[in-house]
Amino acid sequence: MPEKNPEIANELLRWYDSNARDLPWRAAPHSNSANPYHVWLSEIMLQQTTVAAVKPYFAKFTEQWPDIAALAAAKEEDVLAAWAGLGYYARARNLVKCARQIMAEHDGVFPSTEQALRTLPGIGDYTAAAIAAIAFGQRAVVVDANVERVVARLYCVDEPLPNARKAIRSLTDGITPQSRSGDFAQAMMDLGSSVCWAREAQCAICPLQPYCQAGQADMALRYPVKKPKKAKPVRQGSAYWIEKQGAIWLVKRRDDAMLGGMRALPDNGWRARNDGDISPPLNGPWSDIGDPVIHHFTHFTIHLQLKAYQGSVESMEAVIGQNSGEWWPVETLEAAGLPTLFAKAAKIGQQQLGRLL
Ligand code: ADE
Repeated sequence: MPEKNPEIANELLRWYDSNARDLPWRAAPHSNSANPYHVWLSEIMLQQTTVAAVKPYFAKFTEQWPDIAALAAAKEEDVLAAWAGLGYYARARNLVKCARQIMAEHDGVFPSTEQALRTLPGIGDYTAAAIAAIAFGQRAVVVDANVERVVARLYCVDEPLPNARKAIRSLTDGITPQSRSGDFAQAMMDLGSSVCWAREAQCAICPLQPYCQAGQADMALRYPVKKPKKAKPVRQGSAYWIEKQGAIWLVKRRDDAMLGGMRALPDNGWRARNDGDISPPLNGPWSDIGDPVIHHFTHFTIHLQLKAYQGSVESMEAVIGQNSGEWWPVETLEAAGLPTLFAKAAKIGQQQLGRLL
């Protein structure tokens, strides 16, 4: 590990004092008093999601469920519906589990140590460190993708990610200060998101430029080194539009499936590993509506063709009546809390078929 250099933290914290982003879940620099519920909720939402996308969801959640007790008392399906559009829905299910566990086992008070936080559903190493540092002023080493980029540049880390994670964590440990480590973590994130960009390093305005090995050598864009990504498989699937008197048939997805527990259009069983291969919920006939929706999940891309039922109402009712699901008015489909992929398909149905209803 390189020698500890307290100047890096000092310089960065000075920069943060006048450049900190004003974010709804944040306390002002130096205050050490961020609301743990807000910090936790925002950190879960910000995983794999941008600040701009998170802001309206954070506002909606804190209005609807202003504290941990309110969220713990919420119905899981209401939280999942409110989460619709943010993606990675396991986060929403864990949110409810975590809130309930804090009520049941911690008297409704967030634990303040990394170790205790890590025992809670949905809270891994990163989130535990972020909450301990930001909400409780504990010294913790917080490494997200922005921090990885900044540190890989500061020290010209040649090992490719993700293998370099351990080395980067240890280098971050070496520059994390004893006090204000929450401000330090957020300052690193802000530096990564407003100065030290992935495709443009902006070294001329960077407060850490004098300490940055890659910046000094004019090689910032070489870092972080990344292992080439495998091409994502492309899967083909169908989603079914079954309409009766201005209402659409929606199902609840199985808890153990992708997007588990969410409301959705019925589909033909496509998954990361295979194309859809399950028979449609009715014999048909079916007709293709619009072009397939193309949607990128982390591990695969799906081409989802919307198909509309064109058969008789009698044969529809005979079958549908035996399945579980619900009729949902077409005009209020936006309120059904469909995950983004199905919301895109439903939009096509609404536009191309809704006006015929
Ligand atoms: N991304 C993840 N956590 C963040 C935070 N606390 N501030 C800004 N960006 C973040």
